[in-house]
Amino acid sequence: MLTVAVLISGAGSNLRALLDAVADPGFPASVVAVGADREADGFAHAEDFGIPTFLVPWESYSSREEWGAALGEQLDVWKPDLVVLSGLMRLLPASLVEAWAPRIINTHPAYLPEFPGAHGVRDALAAGVTQTGASVIVVDTGVDTGPILAQERVPVLPDDDEHSLHDRIKPVERRLLIDVVHRIATGDLDLAAESTP
Ligand code: GRF
Repeated sequence: MLTVAVLISGAGSNLRALLDAVADPGFPASVVAVGADREADGFAHAEDFGIPTFLVPWESYSSREEWGAALGEQLDVWKPDLVVLSGLMRLLPASLVEAWAPRIINTHPAYLPEFPGAHGVRDALAAGVTQTGASVIVVDTGVDTGPILAQERVPVLPDDDEHSLHDRIKPVERRLLIDVVHRIATGDLDLAAESTP
C-alpha cells in the first residue's frame, strides 16, 4: 500500500477527489496525513475521513528555508512514500525538494510547459489560446519544470472567465492525479525512471 501525504493551501477539492478514490478498498494507496501552509478550508475533507492534519504556517517563519525545514519535520513524522502538492500555493525550498526527490508530485491547471506558475489559468486566458489543459508533474527545484507524468488538453470557450475555465480544468486535474497515484502505487509508473534525464 502506497502511503501519501497531501499538501494544500485552499479548498482542497482535488484532495477530496483523491480521498474519495482511495476510500475504495481496492485502491492501492492511502492518505496518511494532510498538511497546509495556512488554515486551509480543505482540512475539513481530511477531518471527514479521520485523516490527521498538520499546519506549518508560512507567516511563522522568517525564511522559505526555515518554513521548509519545519514542513520537512512534519513529513518525517509520517514518512509517506509520496507527497502530493494539491493546490499548495508556496514554492518548496530546494533543500526539501532534493531531500524528497523524486517522490513529490504536483498538479497544475495548464498544459505544461505552457503557463507555469501560480496563475496558469489566468495566463492562458490572457494569452488568448483556444486550448489549455491540466498536468501532473514530478516536482523539481524549478517552477513547474519537472518531468511530466500525465497531461490532457482542455478547450477554452469564447466566453470563459478564469473561474469557468478553472472549473472545467479541475475535474481533469483530479482524474489525472488519481490515475498517476494509482499507477505509482501499482509500480506501473516509476518516478525514479521518469526523473532520469
Ligand atoms: C488546482 O487547480 C491546483 O492545480 C491549483 O489550485 C487548484 C487547487 O484547488 N494550483 P483545490 O484547493 O484542490 O480546490
